[in-house]
Amino acid sequence: MREWLTVGKSGTIEWAEMKRRFAWEFNGMRLHEYYFENLTPTATALDHQSQLYKKIEEDFGQYDLWEQGFKGTGGMRGIGWVILVFDVQTGRLFNAWLGEHDTGLLVDTLPLLVMDVFEHAFLPDYGLKRSEYVEAFFNVIDWKRVENRLRPV
Ligand SMILES: [Fe+2]
Repeated sequence: MREWLTVGKSGTIEWAEMKRRFAWEFNGMRLHEYYFENLTPTATALDHQSQLYKKIEEDFGQYDLWEQGFKGTGGMRGIGWVILVFDVQTGRLFNAWLGEHDTGLLVDTLPLLVMDVFEHAFLPDYGLKRSEYVEAFFNVIDWKRVENRLRPV
């Protein structure tokens, strides 16, 4: 709904509820776009010469430590998203957890790698074996796409 169509309705419960739900709906849409865009059936490993690989090693010590942290975040209880983000302010990478679609988004960060950990993403194929879903996710990452999301500060 366009903002100008609701002018004068800001005192209503409906208007307030629409405002409260906006981030949930917007982020849900955008995060799914990022998620599906960073998947490919022809995955290859992240290029060790890439800027992203070097940045991961710089910020997490080793690539493997970053991967463990990302997967570990994906194994946390609850539903939401795991996102490798790039902080535009400091140039640092973080593995972030977003509860639902709208809780925990870090301001001024760019999503690089996005993994859906709502039940609908893994239950149909993996049941309660969420860790197998996370492993399978790593086999279909489009690293070229993820690399291209990293922009210089
Ligand atoms: Fe989803």
